[in-house]
Amino acid sequence: MSQVTEYSSKVMDHFSNPRNVGEIENASGVGTVGNAKCGDIMRMYLDIDDEQVVRDAKFKTFGCGAAIATSSMATELVKGKSVQEAMSVTNKAVMEALDGLPSVKVHCSLLAEQAIHAALWDYSQKNDITIEGLKPPVNDIDETEEFYKMQSGE
Ligand code: FES
Repeated sequence: MSQVTEYSSKVMDHFSNPRNVGEIENASGVGTVGNAKCGDIMRMYLDIDDEQVVRDAKFKTFGCGAAIATSSMATELVKGKSVQEAMSVTNKAVMEALDGLPSVKVHCSLLAEQAIHAALWDYSQKNDITIEGLKPPVNDIDETEEFYKMQSGE
């Protein structure tokens, strides 16, 4: 993807009209992640049925516009997927679905990926289910961000 310097119309749309804002009562999995550097926090709720398919996803984000847009898109992408398929909703996938993010905002999409993982982790622990590639959530995604930067050579 070429270098993006502005918010795409999709980002603006999901920021001004976010989908799936709110909570799910008795959610199958709930995950909260934060980034200590910017202070933004995201909470993700997943409703998962007996077939291990995500039936509903909602979020609450206390954060910047890009964090709101990425949470909104992440909930849209994760709905209807099996818990294993939900692992494919990475920050890259979310960014692609939003037609990119400015590079200074890439970490916001990482918050969305990590919030999904944290909610899946909660679900997997409660139900004694193994989801391939899923790791325990970190409290501060700042550390993950450093790791991600190292990997992508940013
Ligand atoms: Fe913190 Fe966007 S600036 S998540």
